[in-house]
Amino acid sequence: MYIVRRTSHIDVQCTMCNVLKMKTSIIHFLKQTEEYLSGEEISRHLKMSRAAVWKYIEELRKDGYEIEAIPHRGYKLLTTPDLLLPHEIQFNLGTKTIGKEFIYHESISSTMDLAFKLGMEGAKEGTVVCAETQTKGRGRMGRSWVSPKGKGIYFSLILRPSLTPTESSKFTLLAGVAVSEAIHKVCGIRPGLKWPNDLLIHHKKLAGILTELSAEMDRVRFIVIGIGLNVNTMTSQLPSIATSLKAEVKQNVNRVDVLQEILRQFEKYYFEVKVDGFDTVIKKARQLSATIGTRIKLVDAGKELEGQAIDIDDQGALVIRSDAGVAIKRMTGDVIHVA
Ligand code: BTN
Repeated sequence: MYIVRRTSHIDVQCTMCNVLKMKTSIIHFLKQTEEYLSGEEISRHLKMSRAAVWKYIEELRKDGYEIEAIPHRGYKLLTTPDLLLPHEIQFNLGTKTIGKEFIYHESISSTMDLAFKLGMEGAKEGTVVCAETQTKGRGRMGRSWVSPKGKGIYFSLILRPSLTPTESSKFTLLAGVAVSEAIHKVCGIRPGLKWPNDLLIHHKKLAGILTELSAEMDRVRFIVIGIGLNVNTMTSQLPSIATSLKAEVKQNVNRVDVLQEILRQFEKYYFEVKVDGFDTVIKKARQLSATIGTRIKLVDAGKELEGQAIDIDDQGALVIRSDAGVAIKRMTGDVIHVA
């Protein structure tokens, strides 16, 4: 599960990896039935000793799973914790690459930092680093990302596409499209895309995307896509310009369902891009755009440009018609919707 080069850590990491695998197998087995499963059945099915079954069940209880144990009948899963644990996310996920390696932290400085470190150490494409809270969650332009514990979804994804550094910004659009589609599937509402990296509902920010890369002049080594989504966050915990899924749909939203669907949608678009290029993603980004048709101010490297956003071109650039009637393309910048 963990990819490390320093030999001194390998044993410890592999032990963690085995514990996780065992716990995952037990949880997946318990989830398959509403009946009681005896310790013997579990031990036979999963090829582990009865003592090991007992030990891992205790571990799972510590993780917050409520598992009933009745003498002569066995174990039954009663409730699962509201946590983005690997065994929850990977259960019925159905992806081939995205999320196959899932690294979970209760608290971390920023999932971007760990994902970047793992990327440098050779982590596999599709590796996800996820945390319940971040103490130094960050956004674009040096902004911070508020990450209340257990309320939102905060994760970073490592990809190793073969592309040039300038093409990488299209992945921000891909992520925006995937997150919007996933939210539509799970919650029935469709957030709009504020170019280049925000998802909005009723003009308020619901999610943000941060794309960072390690590259040479003409080749990307890997990219890390960080996604922060306000799910069950109270609006009082957020900046006034932000909202959460709970605030919009007026009920708690299952974070596991949302994260699983984001990973599935991401993989769907990513595989399509690998075969057919970005055409579909760009087309979807145009359809979902909350920026096209709006008067905007774009700030880039201290310079301001005001005009009407009229399109997203095939390279993912925003096309703005200036007040002098000239069409100008911009690949980067911070956009403010003026009206
Ligand atoms: C933005 O809106 O400027 C982008 C926000 C990105 C936030 C996510 S949360 C997970 C990942 N870890 C971080 O520190 N940032 C990204």
